[in-house]
Amino acid sequence: MNSPANPLSGGPVRNEQNSQAHRMDNMYRFTRHIYDLTRRYYLFGRDRLVDQIVTDSNSSTLEVGCGTARNLIRLARRKDRGLLFGLDASHEMLETADLSVSRALAGPIVLRQGLAEDLDAKRMFGKEEPFDTIFFSYCLSMIPTWQPAIDAALNNLRTGGTLWIVDFWDQKTLPAWFSAGLQRWLALFHVKYRPELHEALVSIGTSGKALVTFETVGSRYAYIAKVVKI
Ligand SMILES: C[S@@+](CC[C@H](N)C(=O)[O-])C[C@H]1O[C@@H](n2cnc3c(N)ncnc32)[C@H](O)[C@@H]1O
Repeated sequence: MNSPANPLSGGPVRNEQNSQAHRMDNMYRFTRHIYDLTRRYYLFGRDRLVDQIVTDSNSSTLEVGCGTARNLIRLARRKDRGLLFGLDASHEMLETADLSVSRALAGPIVLRQGLAEDLDAKRMFGKEEPFDTIFFSYCLSMIPTWQPAIDAALNNLRTGGTLWIVDFWDQKTLPAWFSAGLQRWLALFHVKYRPELHEALVSIGTSGKALVTFETVGSRYAYIAKVVKI
């Protein structure tokens, strides 16, 4: 294990919230072994997001819904990587993440089990200070309670820090058959494009709480949102 004692537990989790952790564990129990191989064909824009994250020797960066840790391992290869943290609902995914981090000699990366909507830098990671950067990569489209997850991320981000999101967009400029087929396929994995999430990010920008910009990935296949907390 590359992280401190009881590394994969972020603290007590309430029963009703355990259901998302169970759903994720059930889904990834076997597929986690082929996750990185298969997802490279449809989770586009991840490297583009990761490469825009600014780190230095004093920075702290958290990925919420880190899965197999492939994004964190990419960050860990930098010379000035700072402190890296990963949170995920699924114990199963975190087993793979832990192994991948060890194999890639990418440690230390602190991994914890917990829910995005419960994020608490102090309780889960023992951090006194908020994070400089938090990112979600194809995670919010799996979380029915995405709004509390965004709120928790902003509450645990320092002023001037950046929240990054890459996730599916509406595919409006792509052929209708493609979009319909993709949505049916994604539904098998509890993934759902959430127009209301995109709208909420726009509203955060207009509210003056943050500066929000969007980039399109592959003709509205996905988007990258950059939310700088003011
Ligand atoms: C599609 S995978 C993406 C993994 C990784 N971010 C990537 O880009 O490869 C989504 C991840 O989010 C996690 N997840 C789902 N709901 C969550 C929640 N409420 N809190 C934390 N993690 C969650 C899943 O267990 C899974 O590992």
